[in-house]
Order: sequence, then C-alpha cells, then structure tokens
Amino acid sequence: MTHDLIVLGAGAAGLMAAATAGQAGARVLLLDHADKAGKKILISGGGRCNFTNTGTEAENFLSENPHFSKSALVRYTQWDFLALVERHGIAWHEKTLGQLFCDGSARQIVAMLLEECAAGGVELRLSTKIDDIGHGDGLFRVAGATAPQLIVATGGPSIPKMGATGIAYRIAERFGLPVVTPRPALVPLTLGEDAQAFRDISGVSSSVTASAGGAAFSEAALFTHRGLSGPAILQASSYWTPGAPVMLNLLSNAEEVLREARRNSPRIRLRSVLSEHLPNRLAEVLAARVGLQTEMGNTSDKEIARVAGELQALTFHPTGTEGFAKAEVTAGGISTDALSSRTMEAKSVPGLYAIGEAVDVTGWLGGYNFQWAWASGWAAGQAA
Ligand code: FDA
Repeated sequence: MTHDLIVLGAGAAGLMAAATAGQAGARVLLLDHADKAGKKILISGGGRCNFTNTGTEAENFLSENPHFSKSALVRYTQWDFLALVERHGIAWHEKTLGQLFCDGSARQIVAMLLEECAAGGVELRLSTKIDDIGHGDGLFRVAGATAPQLIVATGGPSIPKMGATGIAYRIAERFGLPVVTPRPALVPLTLGEDAQAFRDISGVSSSVTASAGGAAFSEAALFTHRGLSGPAILQASSYWTPGAPVMLNLLSNAEEVLREARRNSPRIRLRSVLSEHLPNRLAEVLAARVGLQTEMGNTSDKEIARVAGELQALTFHPTGTEGFAKAEVTAGGISTDALSSRTMEAKSVPGLYAIGEAVDVTGWLGGYNFQWAWASGWAAGQAA
C-alpha cells in the first residue's frame, strides 16, 4: 500500500477532499490528467471565480433526490468556505444575488487550495493518465499506486476542451453504481424556426422571468443568432426537457403599462409604449409579433388583456441545447441512491467515494456548483 487515499481529479472537489483528508493525517495521492490543477476554477466567473453563494440551500440544487445534498451543505457551509478565503487574505465582493467573487483573480482560489493540500502533505501528480482501476483485497490500484480508499472527483463531461471527460460514469459502471443519464445544464437553448423572428435582435438582452419545467428565474435573457442565452435562460435550461416549452415574461406589469398608455397617451402606438420599458429593437419585434395596429386610445380592454398575456408568456419551443461543448455544468451523474449523504461513500463498495459534479447534484448558476464541490469534497475528505 503506497497511500491511505487516492483522489482522482484535481478540480474543485478533489482539491478540497485531498486537503481535508491530508490535514486529518491521511497519506493522500491526488491524480489528474491535466497539466494544471483546477482548470475550471481558473476560467470560472469570467476569471474571478464566483466561489460561493451566501444564500446556498438544498433548494438551489437539482437531483433525483432533492434531500441528498442537505447533510454536506449544512456541515461545510458557504460561511466555512468564506472563512477559508479570508484566512488566505483573498479580497472578495458580492456581485449580485449573494454571488461572491474574488476582487483579484480565480488564480488565488487555486493557489489557496494548493497551499491547503501542501499543508496536508498531499502528493499531487499531474499529466497522469487514469486507465484501469484495479480492486481487490480491500485495495484500489490506479496508475501504479495502491490505497484502501478512492475518491472519484473527475467532474462531468461539460466543456471537453478543458479536459472534462465522462470517466466518472465508466468508474461507476465498473463498480456497479447506477448513473442518472447525464445532460447539459446551465446551457444556451437553440431555437429552430422560432429563432427566425428574433435573429435580427441577436445580441439584445432584457430582464425577464424565464420559466421551464416548473421553475422560474428573474434575470437577464439574451437573444442569440441560434436561440436564447443569458443567466435567466441558463438557469431555466437545467429544468428544461426536450419537447417542453420555455416561457418568457417580458413585462410583469404589462396590463397596467398598456392601460396607463391608453389613458395618458391615446395617440401612442404599442411599439413606442414597449420601447419605454424594453430595448428598442425588442419592442419593435414584439409589437410586430402581437399585431396590435391601432393607436392605444382605440384598443379595447380585451385587446389589452390579449397583448399583456402574450408579453407575459412569450412561448418558445427549443429544438435543443448548445450541448456539453457550451454547458457550464452536467446535470445527472452517479446516482445519489448509491451513496451515503453524510460521507459520499458508495453503499456497496467500502472505501469508494464520489463527489462534486460527477454526482447527480447540480446547482443553479451563481456559485452554487462550487459550494457543492467544497461541501461534498469536505464530507468525503473527513470520512476517508
Ligand atoms: P472539475 O471539472 O472542477 O474537476 C474535475 C477534474 O478531473 C479536472 O481537473 C479534470 O482534469 C480531471 N479529469 C477529468 N477526467 C479525467 C480523466 N479521464 N483522467 C484524469 N483526470 C480527469 N461554478 C460556480 O459555482 N461558480 C462559477 O463561477 C462557475 N463558473 C464556471 C465557468 C465555466 C466556463 C464552467 C465550464 C463552469 C463553471 N462553474 C462555476 C461550474 C464549476 O466549474 C464546476 O461545477 C466545478 O468545477 C465542479 O467541480 P469538480 O471538482 O466536481 O469537477
């Protein structure tokens, strides 16, 4: 036996797990095929890493078992991670909606985690290919090393050009752990014919409430030449299923706005009313789409109600998503049914753990995915 613990994947979750276990006294080997640790951390949050969210709760995560994330999130909270950031003297700020970012660079978060690993005596081996995993006599054998415990922290297949792979699912299969079908999440949606009408306003962004699959998010939506993007759409995409509609509420007080225009400016036309509340080019497309030709003074209550209804439930039928190449995260993954929610250890394979994005727990946009990586990494690192 060369080590007490082997951690596969030096990303957010693997670095946290390795540091935690190392500092608790375990001899830890951390392996990654990349030439650098924490590559996704480095590009996250536009290079400033949205490292947690002050409002983190289990409700901010999707999983077949919505209760699974609770234990880890409560035992290693957003405040614990923030305290670590502050101990390392990293300056931070809240951008919006509880999202905490580095003032400087995401490189500081990776440097902090590497220092924590060094403090735990973790041996880090980069550019190491992981082929077969041997298992017998209570030991795991990987890349020439052996240990009685193995943590799988290899993430999901989103953004393959960053070195992301689906190896976690192959390992799960090897050990008989079920996998919830992985799918791209926090991802732009593509529109077929629907996109035609909006192609001219590619690049226009507007505040909306976007709904899909029973969830609704009030943030910006962006019209693109292929479909829809922006934070509200990325959030809704995680709840979208093929064939289902996505609805945009573009003007939450539409009826009031239209009635007021009819009362105060009877000569005005719909396009001008809308352009007071929405970007000009969007107002133009919408006015043409809802087909209200008359001056506001000549519109009936019924017409106002119809137009308001359309503006509040502009419905799209996406043809798909931009796929794993553009997805910020992967939803689905190793089934939580197979794991202990306290330790992340596989119920059927003593000594085997899975954490982070490899597991069927997916956060909203806004620092939640890293908080899950820290919390699940800490839980497994403590236990291993
Ligand atoms: P992660 O992907 O970080 O690490 C997996 C590691 O395993 C990698 O180092 C990889 O090289 C290694 N690996 C994979 N396959 C392997 C193989 N076959 N052999 C050996 N090693 C292998 N989240 C958030 O909360 N705030 C944010 O600001 C952002 N921003 C963001 C921007 C962009 C562009 C992306 C793509 C994603 C984000 N995220 C985010 C999501 C966040 O990056 C993600 O959820 C976490 O990095 C997941 O952490 P893990 O450690 O589970 O996987």
